[in-house]
Amino acid sequence: MSRISVKPMPGAFGVEVEGVDLSRPLDAETERAVMDAFHGGRIMAIRGQKLVFDEFDRFTRRFGDQDAHFLDHLRLLGHPAILMLSNIFEDGKPVGVFEGAAFWHTDVAYRDPPNSATIVYALECPAGGCPTHFADMYAAYDDLPQAVKDRIDGLKVIHHYGNRDDMDEDSPQSAERLTAEQKKKVRNVVMPLVRTHHVTGRKALYGVAGSSFHIVDMPDDEALDLLDSLKEHALQPKYLTAYDYAAGDVVAWDTYATLHKATLQKPATKPEDRRVLWRVSVTGKPQIFRDGPQAT
Ligand SMILES: [Fe+2]
Repeated sequence: MSRISVKPMPGAFGVEVEGVDLSRPLDAETERAVMDAFHGGRIMAIRGQKLVFDEFDRFTRRFGDQDAHFLDHLRLLGHPAILMLSNIFEDGKPVGVFEGAAFWHTDVAYRDPPNSATIVYALECPAGGCPTHFADMYAAYDDLPQAVKDRIDGLKVIHHYGNRDDMDEDSPQSAERLTAEQKKKVRNVVMPLVRTHHVTGRKALYGVAGSSFHIVDMPDDEALDLLDSLKEHALQPKYLTAYDYAAGDVVAWDTYATLHKATLQKPATKPEDRRVLWRVSVTGKPQIFRDGPQAT
C-alpha cells in the first residue's frame, strides 16, 4: 500500500513527494501515486535518495522511452541515456553541460518525437546554490484571452537546435556549442504551438522560447512577434517558480507543461563548489499509462 505524501513546493507550482525509496522498484499503487503527483505538479522533487546507476536508470524508464541526448560528447561514459550537467572541467574542457541551458527553453523540442519529461539526480551541489527556473505553461495558456487562443490553436511551429534569441556560439546564453558532426544532424521539426497533454488532456503553450524559430505559413516577422509576445506573457512572475537542488534529490519536470532555464554556473575551483547532476530525458507516455505497473 502506498504511503507517499505529496506537498506543494513553495512558489507557483511543483510538488515534493515523501515516503518513496527509489532504490527499490515501486509497487503499482505507489507508482501511480507518484505519476499522478508528477502530472499534477509539473515539477516533482523526491529528496534524500541514495541511488546507484541502475536504480536511477530503472526509475527514469518509468517516465517513458529513454532518449540518448543529441549532445553525445557530454553523455556519461558507458551510459548513453545520461547527460552530465556539471561545472567541473578536466583538461580545460567541461565534463558536462556547463553553460548551454541558461535560457528559457523546452528540452529537446527540436527532435521528433520531442522529450516529454526530464529526470535529474543530484550527486553534488554547490554550496552557493544553482537553481533551475520553471514557468507553468498550463496556467499561461489558460489565462490567454479567448481571441488569442482562437488565433494560436492549430498553429504549427518550426523548431531546430539553438536559442532564437542568441545564436552566438560564444555567448553563455546560447545553446551548448555543437561539434561539427552534430551540426550536420540539425534538422527542422514541426511542433504544435498549443499542445494537448498526452496524459492529462490539458492544453499548454508549447516551446514558445528557445528552439522555436518560425511558424508554418506565417511571415517570419509576424511569427517572431507572436512567439515573443507569448514568451513574454508566459514569463510573468505569477507563472514562475524555481527549484534548487541538494545532493540526493531526484527531480522530474514535465516538458509538455513547463518552460525552464538553468542558472549560469561558475567553474568549480574547490570541492564545495562542485556540481554534478545526471540527467535523463524520455519520449512518450509513462509506462503505467501504457503497459501497467512494473514487475516488483
Ligand atoms: Fe533543459
